[in-house]
Amino acid sequence: MTQIIDGKRISLEIKDELKEKVARLKEEGKECCLAVIQVGNDPASSVYVRNKKKACEYIGIRSLSYELPEETTEEELLALIQKLNQDASVHGILVQLPVPKHIVEDHIIKAIDPRKDVDGFHPMNVGALTIGERGFVSCTPAGIIQLLKRSDIDIEGKNCVVIGRSNIVGKPMALLMLRENATVTIAHSRTKNLKELCKTADILIVAIGKPKFITAEYVKEGAVVIDVGIHRNAENKLCGDVDYEDVAPHTAAITPVPGGVGPMTIAMLMHNCVEAMEAVTLS
Ligand code: GUN
Repeated sequence: MTQIIDGKRISLEIKDELKEKVARLKEEGKECCLAVIQVGNDPASSVYVRNKKKACEYIGIRSLSYELPEETTEEELLALIQKLNQDASVHGILVQLPVPKHIVEDHIIKAIDPRKDVDGFHPMNVGALTIGERGFVSCTPAGIIQLLKRSDIDIEGKNCVVIGRSNIVGKPMALLMLRENATVTIAHSRTKNLKELCKTADILIVAIGKPKFITAEYVKEGAVVIDVGIHRNAENKLCGDVDYEDVAPHTAAITPVPGGVGPMTIAMLMHNCVEAMEAVTLS
């Protein structure tokens, strides 16, 4: 029987754990605060930002919202980040990506104080993950580790293929699986024999960005398949990078879209915010 990995349930479990923790910290007079910055009004970004603010509300994290016009200059955005870096009442800073083209994304990522970088995008945090030190981990891959662990799926010694090499998902995902003692391969658009490679995976993590790309032909019988993709098809229905109907019967476990990886990203963002506050209040 295929296990359907329920990201909605697991993300709620994590949010409820955080809610309790935040309430306890509040009793000690400590209030966690996340600053969320959006530049311009890309509709997809607006949905993500709204959901992040809703999650803060649910858990009891104070959220500061900065909705800046499209024409905001890089200097103006950097000045706001500096102000928030220096504000001790703010524990996490998140700039929703993508930023408009006249702003260099890399400058923004590097301007955020690594101790407030709840997205885990700053080179200091990426470096910490690489050498196995503590730091913030990018939320989507961190959420996938939680999905696997909380679904009692063993990682140690397993062959894991990650398709995708982005800084936000593919690379940190591979590092996290390595930290869990999997044998990891990163595949990407130039990989040869992708199908044969995927067939070697006990755990296949797909962040390829193409709707329903992965069919049963790519999957070993009894593998675990994690689908990071999210797309809208012609009938306005959500689907992932994996052809779920085709692949699911061949798997031991699989994440659906929606309701798999998606809800975990925000849950892990909330987790990182609470960690950011604990790190400063404990030190
Ligand atoms: N845009 C799409 N995903 C993300 C994310 O995880 N963090 C930020 N800051 N922007 C995004």
